[in-house]
Amino acid sequence: MRTQVGIVGAGPAGLVLAHLLARAGIDSVVLENRSRGYIEQRVRAGVLEQTTVDLLRENGLAQRLDREGMVHHGLELRFAGRGHRIPLSELTGGRAITVYGQQEVVKDLVRARLEAGGEILFEVDDVTLHDLDSERPAIRFRHGGGDHELRCDVVAGCDGFHGVSRPSIPAGVLTAYEREYPFAWLGILAEAPPSSEELIYCSSERGFALHSMRSPKVTRLYLQVDPAEDLANWPDERIWEELRARFATDDGWTLADGPLLEKGITPLRSFVVEPMQYGRLYLAGDAAHIVPATGAKGLNLAVADVRILAEALEAWYRTGRTDLLDGYSAACLRRVWRVQQFSWWMTSMLHLFDDQGAFDRRLQLSQLAYVCSSKAAATSLAENYVGLPYV
Ligand code: FAD
Ligand code: PHB
Repeated sequence: MRTQVGIVGAGPAGLVLAHLLARAGIDSVVLENRSRGYIEQRVRAGVLEQTTVDLLRENGLAQRLDREGMVHHGLELRFAGRGHRIPLSELTGGRAITVYGQQEVVKDLVRARLEAGGEILFEVDDVTLHDLDSERPAIRFRHGGGDHELRCDVVAGCDGFHGVSRPSIPAGVLTAYEREYPFAWLGILAEAPPSSEELIYCSSERGFALHSMRSPKVTRLYLQVDPAEDLANWPDERIWEELRARFATDDGWTLADGPLLEKGITPLRSFVVEPMQYGRLYLAGDAAHIVPATGAKGLNLAVADVRILAEALEAWYRTGRTDLLDGYSAACLRRVWRVQQFSWWMTSMLHLFDDQGAFDRRLQLSQLAYVCSSKAAATSLAENYVGLPYV
């Protein structure tokens, strides 16, 4: 088998890359180790930045997103029993976020790619990368009971944090920068109408909680929990009680509940490798970096990476120029570190830390009050949250 760009992983990074390359007339094959059904049901992120929506729209991939996505012009920060609205659009010249589940994005991207005759192989096993430092790298894998080799010009490692691409780079090439947080998020999807039109980021004395949504009938909620927490300790009623306690306000706000459709625990982590490339292998998305979900950035950053990669590959195929490919990592890392800082800042401001004393808690509350009362501070949050067009 032969293609121009071999893409490992059919998450947002790999699928968006395949579309951008096709538009530029560049062939690719996407190799995914899970089934199509699995990746189309996997519940993850839900907030799309303006730039992500614009890119999907420009590429004709946003018809259902435009119909079903929920455009939000603000968000709420809730603390000390009161909510404060950050008017995102007003502070950013009309930019907004769109709430649309990651699995819906994945469904749209897979369908459009297959309809256009694109090649995505699902349920491939034993993917290994070879000759990355040569001009003809190869991807070997098992599929449909047989062994295969895909020769390509370039490999795009879009296989997430636990994929094979990053570990295929020889020891000593990459430097990893990492921070683990002393908490995780217990997330639920509930058949209940959202209790607020906008997202609520709540810093309570019992820990952080987040109110998000997927549709007018489905709410997505998160609770800060211990990273070693066992889901078995969280029967549905305990989850609702804890959510109600954390979101409680002085004016008697109520949280609608309903049957749970999904629940899971996700650790919070900051992670970056530098550089994001080795030979003919380019890492994109979670394969190269992880951000704590408090900034709602993981998916958006994956899309930002592959936009840069697609532009660099297009320039290389068209004219032979290599400077954009050589500069791929540096170009991505500028945004990666901006987003890391923002995600760390939101995480640190909103969560309770084990070793936190009364002094640190008062600093957090003061910071929250400042963000909600100063236009300059609110604008800083807003422009990062909706996504900076240029970094
Ligand atoms: P992924 O979406 O992880 O895609 C990688 C793909 O590669 C997957 O389909 C995987 O099956 C495939 N793959 C892996 N290994 C191999 C292999 N060896 N061979 C072939 N294919 C392989 N972000 C938020 O902003 N908010 C959230 O609430 C949120 N929740 C999350 C919950 C979980 C459990 C996880 C893991 C992430 C969450 N994120 C969240 C982060 C966000 O979903 C990611 O940043 C985003 O999915 C990154 O896209 P990606 O394409 O880089 O990676
Ligand atoms: C979500 O809707 O899943 C979501 C929203 C905002 C975040 C993280 C996750 O910061």
